[in-house]
Amino acid sequence: MRSVTVKAGKKYEVLIGTGILDSVSELIAGVTKTKHVIVVSDDNVYPLYGQTVVKKLEDDGYQVERFVFPHGEASKNLSVFGELQEKMCDAHLSREDLLIAVGGGVVGDLAGFAAATYQRGIPFVQIPTTLLAAVDSSVGGKTAVDLPNGKNQVGCFYQPSLVICDPATLATLPDTEYRNGCAEIIKYGVLDSEELFEKILQKPVCEQYEEIIERCVSIKRDYVEEDEFDRGKRMLLNYGHTIAHAIEACSRYEIPHGQAVAIGMVMITKASAAKGLCDPELAKRVENIVRAYGLPYETGFAKEDLSEAGMADKKNTSDSVRLVIPEAIGGCTVRRIPRAEFISWLQEGGAV
Ligand code: NAD
Ligand code: GLY
Repeated sequence: MRSVTVKAGKKYEVLIGTGILDSVSELIAGVTKTKHVIVVSDDNVYPLYGQTVVKKLEDDGYQVERFVFPHGEASKNLSVFGELQEKMCDAHLSREDLLIAVGGGVVGDLAGFAAATYQRGIPFVQIPTTLLAAVDSSVGGKTAVDLPNGKNQVGCFYQPSLVICDPATLATLPDTEYRNGCAEIIKYGVLDSEELFEKILQKPVCEQYEEIIERCVSIKRDYVEEDEFDRGKRMLLNYGHTIAHAIEACSRYEIPHGQAVAIGMVMITKASAAKGLCDPELAKRVENIVRAYGLPYETGFAKEDLSEAGMADKKNTSDSVRLVIPEAIGGCTVRRIPRAEFISWLQEGGAV
């Protein structure tokens, strides 16, 4: 079993190992004394893994409550959040008890926010079952729900007590979800090093899950430890994301986050090359790896619409937009540009 220690508002371990979910009770006993827990999952993941987790916990003497909601981003809202809070209250969960999130980023973000706010905060454990959740959303403590007019508009920073990542769960992941996770891994490759970039180019991520997940989590750990509240270095994790958020909004969230990030990375790198901020060869390399993973690399949305949609991104203000510029692999920087200039970046990135 691999282990990455994160020292943020809370110190916790991210455990990575194929088959470690079999030992869920022992692993959880390492971070809590309670025998009363709630397992939160969605209706795809619960029958696949949630049920097994519940059975193991019950066999080991835990009293287990369950909260299962319909899968998908549409459930990451205040209404489902409220139902979960009421369920915890009805079940008489106290601040000493534990919430266990089993699922992808939607489950982790919603359940994490519920844990952060129920009785002003109860401990929670993340059990990520998508590649995106394994390498990104289960670590770092960003929790949130969406509002009708924007994603992640209500939330807070609240670190888990433990992350249990069992790559065996990724075997049932639909192909699109696998590719969505790969987009975030490509992001880590560009942010971190030639070595990681080449590693995932030479061999598919699915043939080296444990090593790649450990590597990405370690990279994210370094960013989170230095800038837990996203005021400086952590912003670099948004490489490709400014344009991605605009694409997601333009598509009314029909285009999944990972696909939008793939297009966003290609576009911002092309635009950076056009503005002389990076070698044009880098733009080709980013497009090639994105295509190699079967991810999209261009958008049909008009630059005016993308620019307008970018307004909804909470990281931008009415007069400026924040961009992560890939000057080289392993050398990205954050820059604020006047909003009026954003259209030229979108155009140079290939938008019509
Ligand atoms: P998701 O949670 O919606 O999961 C994708 C789909 O895969 C769902 O239908 C789910 O039921 C299904 N699924 C999950 N695990 C499965 C498995 N092992 N086998 C079969 N099906 C499975 O989506 P996601 O991509 O994991 O997460 C996206 C969410 O994460 C977004 O809401 C995004 O805002 C959030 N996010 C948060 C952070 C953060 O730092 N907190 C970072 C990135 C993204
Ligand atoms: N997913 C970006 C972050 O956690 O900051």
